[in-house]
Amino acid sequence: MKLWICASLLALLPVVGMAADAPPDWAYPVAPPDYKAPPDNGQAKHVKGSTLAFTQKDVDDSFGPPDWFPNEHAPMPQLVAHGKAPAVHACDQCHLATGRGHPESGNLAHLPADYIVEQLDQFRSGMRKSSVARRSSNMIDFAKNLTDDEVREAAQYFSSMAPAVWTRVVETDMVPKSFVGEGNMRFVAEGNAKEPIGHRIIEVPQEEEGAKLRDPHTGFIAYVPSGSIRAGEQLVATGGNGKTIQCTICHGADLKGIGNVPGLAGRSAIYIFRQLYDIQHGTRKGNAVALMEPVVKNLTQDDMIALAAYMSSRTP
Ligand code: HEC
Ligand code: HEC
Repeated sequence: MKLWICASLLALLPVVGMAADAPPDWAYPVAPPDYKAPPDNGQAKHVKGSTLAFTQKDVDDSFGPPDWFPNEHAPMPQLVAHGKAPAVHACDQCHLATGRGHPESGNLAHLPADYIVEQLDQFRSGMRKSSVARRSSNMIDFAKNLTDDEVREAAQYFSSMAPAVWTRVVETDMVPKSFVGEGNMRFVAEGNAKEPIGHRIIEVPQEEEGAKLRDPHTGFIAYVPSGSIRAGEQLVATGGNGKTIQCTICHGADLKGIGNVPGLAGRSAIYIFRQLYDIQHGTRKGNAVALMEPVVKNLTQDDMIALAAYMSSRTP
């Protein structure tokens, strides 16, 4: 009997351990299944600085989302602007024409083209998955339906996009209450209620309406716990006395990337957190990812929050 109890307890232990370190929902936003977007009045919408007008239906067209500022970027390849129906959505639906993208997706602007190609390969082969399947399922489906030439053309386009400050990092103890809604994006809740930030990063649009309309001019705010930027800087600079390895060795002195190693400066804080977590938990794998495994092995979630806060606060 005693033996049986011991065995059962042992069997329970790893489960308990995993639950304590489950992927945090603030980093992997998914709207609740019963979420209903507010009704649309069908009228034409505008964003500041653009003479164009689109209805919400146009905005939500997966194969031709609005291009509010066509003069501000090179002509988009067909795949970026329109995808490949029926399986592959237009890349700019989630990453925007500028590549800067929404935090629940990712920022592709100025990434090395070969790195982008390699990531599509990793999604396709099953090496790269998110710890929350919903966050990577689209990319996996798209990658499986694309040829190498199509991927290469999109990769070159995004790689040529200029980086820009897109996420404003704000240290705080209290954050506006928020919820996950349309497009699995997090928004500030109505009213002025606040709550303690705790051990989280809360990333929300600077202008809710602009983000919903896919305006490439309105970026995001990442609220991070007080002191986390400095804590991240310490880890980056010193490696935390052997806890991790100085990021700058591979990602460049200014964290803007070297060769095919992606830049991290100025990118979405929750995106960076997700990647550190996914690599630590083995859901994101790959030849080059092996270099990151010793980096993340001993990091706590608070370390990852600090690193993400610091990276995101740097000028891209
Ligand atoms: C429906 C939304 C959506 C569309 C459309 C989309 N993506 Fe993504 N993409 C995502 C999400 C979500 C992630 C992040 C997954 C994660 O968190 O790990 C991502 C990540 C990526 C990454 C990894 C970035 C990095 O830094 O490693 C690349 C590269 C990428 N997408 C390329 C593309 C290309 C090329 C297209 C067009 C064929 C495209 N995406 C279309 C949602 C989308
Ligand atoms: C020994 C080299 C090396 C060191 C040191 C290193 N990295 Fe990386 N990192 C890489 C490589 C290579 C990749 C790209 C992996 C791939 O191609 O899939 C990467 C990818 C990443 C990504 C995912 C980027 C994306 O666009 O999805 C993040 C986030 C990251 N590193 C953060 C860090 C942080 C934070 C540190 C320091 C604590 C660090 N890295 C230290 C080599 C390194």
